[in-house]
Amino acid sequence: MLFSHPPMRTLIVGVGALGGTIATRGISAGAPIWLATRSPQSAAALRASGLRVSGTGGPAEARSVRVAAALEYANAEKFDLIVLATKAQDALEAAPFLARLLAPGASLLCIQNGGVSQMLSERLGEGVVLGGLSNLGATMVEPGVYEQRNAGHLLIGEVAGGISDRAMNVAEALRPAIEMRVTANLAGAIWSKLLLNCSVTTIGALAKQTMRGYMASPAGREVFHRVYDEALSVALSSGTRLERMIVDPVPPEGDRSRWVDQILTNYGDIKPSMLQDFERGRRTEIDFINGYTTEQGRKLGVAVAMNAAITAMAHRIERGDTRPDPARLDDLLREAG
Ligand SMILES: NC(=O)c1ccc[n+]([C@@H]2O[C@H](COP(=O)([O-])OP(=O)(O)OC[C@H]3O[C@@H](n4cnc5c(N)ncnc54)[C@H](OP(=O)(O)O)[C@@H]3O)[C@@H](O)[C@H]2O)c1
Repeated sequence: MLFSHPPMRTLIVGVGALGGTIATRGISAGAPIWLATRSPQSAAALRASGLRVSGTGGPAEARSVRVAAALEYANAEKFDLIVLATKAQDALEAAPFLARLLAPGASLLCIQNGGVSQMLSERLGEGVVLGGLSNLGATMVEPGVYEQRNAGHLLIGEVAGGISDRAMNVAEALRPAIEMRVTANLAGAIWSKLLLNCSVTTIGALAKQTMRGYMASPAGREVFHRVYDEALSVALSSGTRLERMIVDPVPPEGDRSRWVDQILTNYGDIKPSMLQDFERGRRTEIDFINGYTTEQGRKLGVAVAMNAAITAMAHRIERGDTRPDPARLDDLLREAG
């Protein structure tokens, strides 16, 4: 593999579904990538097993991987790029320590949905944080074994907007691992994806249904349109210029049926990843999706009752106080008023 710039010494933090897939393809293409796990035990297991990816994009393997627990990098040579590939809550917790592992002028790239890159950029500084969004879907079969689910890409950009040299250089550094695109309007892209995360994904998780399933009921349709419209008002009130992703983020005036059909065609039959988190008893990213929208809406004076009800319900499910079920749709309508 030839690199037109000096290759970037890169640390990928979080060797789960997305981090593991990107790492396997990058390392097998010869990119200078190190990996950080949460514990020394997970690092030792990955050192022994190596990494394998299958699925879209074809098989790839990295037999010899440089991997250690994140804390073990405290005294290592600094990195030019750190890719933060943990879940949102872990990203916020780990970022201040990881920022100390960066060489001067280096970047911390966050690839979580929702408000993570904005929050970290406020805490660590715009010059440190680059934001990103993945529309590549991946799953972890077991530690070290990953499956790429589609031919997606990583869209990256400056949190404050505009195209920068460093974003272009980071895109080039990661190209051996994953298709990379750079946007001048990261906030618009993040919000456009967030509108669908807030509605398609979360409602499906609470109702234990795909979007096609819950849109068959009047309660499901009402919850969908209310949560979407609230989130859209928050995005527009914040001055965000929404980016067209797969569907137009702004629904047409009047009859929305064709617009809904387009969303159903693309997302209607996908099992929501948040439902898997509920089933495995794992903490969800709700605070960074509907929770973030609720918080931003309250700051801007936008009504967000349905997003707030959804956030509270997801927390009740996480605590085991209630369970995902189609009956949650009626509960939401009652609770949001
Ligand atoms: N997977 C996808 O298809 C996809 C697509 C789009 C966006 N995303 C977003 O990408 C992010 C990562 O998703 P994912 O599916 O890859 O999650 P995941 O499979 O849960 O992987 C996250 C990994 O991070 C590790 N981790 C947590 N805290 C850590 C720390 N402090 N230091 C080092 N490693 C740490 C976790 O280890 P433990 O198991 O020990 O906690 C886990 O291996 C999420 O925000 C998700 O929403 C994912």
